[in-house]
Amino acid sequence: MQQTFAIVKPDGVARGVIGQVLARIEANNLKIKAMKLIHMTEKQAQGFYAVHKERPFFKSLTAFMCSGPCVAMILEGDDAIARWREMMGATNFKDAAEGTIRRDFATDIERNVVHGSDAPETAAFETSYFFNAFERV
Ligand code: RTP
Ligand code: MG
Repeated sequence: MQQTFAIVKPDGVARGVIGQVLARIEANNLKIKAMKLIHMTEKQAQGFYAVHKERPFFKSLTAFMCSGPCVAMILEGDDAIARWREMMGATNFKDAAEGTIRRDFATDIERNVVHGSDAPETAAFETSYFFNAFERV
């Protein structure tokens, strides 16, 4: 069993696709181990995406991530990190495979509906960035 950290980003929440994302998670047999609605401050968003701080899109990305509420989740299952990334699709929705969340719901390379950890180390960091021990089942 492996855990990963997932977000329904502010565009997904604003456009009312939380339910559709959760339905895909459940249909793909990933277990939701923790979940909450959060509205990040700019500092929290900057800390979360600190790996991208030198990228040209950092300012825009962090402003977007604190522009409205997000759904933060811990997902668990066999190979959860790779499976959730596969369900999300490529960063740019135009390159995302058919049937993926980004292909079906994203509107922009930045406003791409979902986030997923990319490795066990990032999953561990991101999970404990948003959830304490009492918030996990
Ligand atoms: P994420 O971290 O959100 O799961 O997305 P990812 O691994 O697929 O992509 P990553 O390279 O980590 O980029 C993080 C987020 O930054 C925005 N982005 N904008 N304007 C651009 O060229 C650009 N590139 C990336 C996206 O919101 C991307 O998900
Ligand atoms: Mg990433």
